[in-house]
Amino acid sequence: MPSRSSTDAYGSVAIGIHWLTAVLIIGLLASGVLAEGAADPATKATLLRLHAPMGISILVLTLLRIVWWWRFDTKPLPLGGNPAWQDMLAKAVHVLLYIVMIGMAASGIGMFVLSGAGDILFGGAPGPLPDFDNFVPRVPHGIGAKLMLALLALHIGAALFHHFVRRDATLGRMWSASSK
Ligand code: HEM
Ligand code: HEM
Repeated sequence: MPSRSSTDAYGSVAIGIHWLTAVLIIGLLASGVLAEGAADPATKATLLRLHAPMGISILVLTLLRIVWWWRFDTKPLPLGGNPAWQDMLAKAVHVLLYIVMIGMAASGIGMFVLSGAGDILFGGAPGPLPDFDNFVPRVPHGIGAKLMLALLALHIGAALFHHFVRRDATLGRMWSASSK
């Protein structure tokens, strides 16, 4: 499996980063919503001890991914046969996903730093956990969560549409570097 992409197939590095990101994002959305709604402080602390490192991993992975595409790899060409507006929409959704992922990670880190939650959860500082609503980055974190859900609905919906209705190679070439 070639590590770099060709004009018609994604390479193994791009595929690996894509699916690792997808698993982490699903874990982040679930743990974030559960943490937000947790009435028991101990449960909330446990969820946030998982949520924060996953979010920081996403930031590192996304920065690596940008460097990978920028310096070492080139995206395959669009498959062809799609209206130009669909190719443009797909590209716009991909760019927005990058922006929202970085924005979510940055606002999450901002919440932790400003509220002192990082020291309480990971540094042994005495609790209780702060009310995150009192800190400004909570606002973009909440808006970003909704935006991400909307973008993912479009992104995953389009992937399934291509796979099951158009029956083209869109999903196949993001799954295996040898499929075209
Ligand atoms: C791409 C990365 C991230 C995603 C997708 C994400 C997602 C979410 C979601 C969906 C929520 C629930 C929001 C709501 O229901 O309004 C949430 C809450 C939260 N996130 Fe993140 N998050 C990310 C990164 C981070 C990071 C890196 C940190 C901290 C270092 C963090 C700290 C928090 C905290 C403290 C809450 C709970 C706020 C509350 O209880 O009001 N997040 N996150
Ligand atoms: C859950 C978080 C996800 C994120 C953040 C995400 C993000 C992205 C991004 C940014 C790209 C462009 C390629 C790149 O820059 O590496 C991409 C491509 C792709 N994604 Fe996702 N994705 C996610 C989940 C999924 C899922 C669950 C599916 C399938 C059901 C999927 C199917 C695809 C396909 C088929 C492509 C290739 C599109 C093309 O060749 O034009 N993605 N994804």
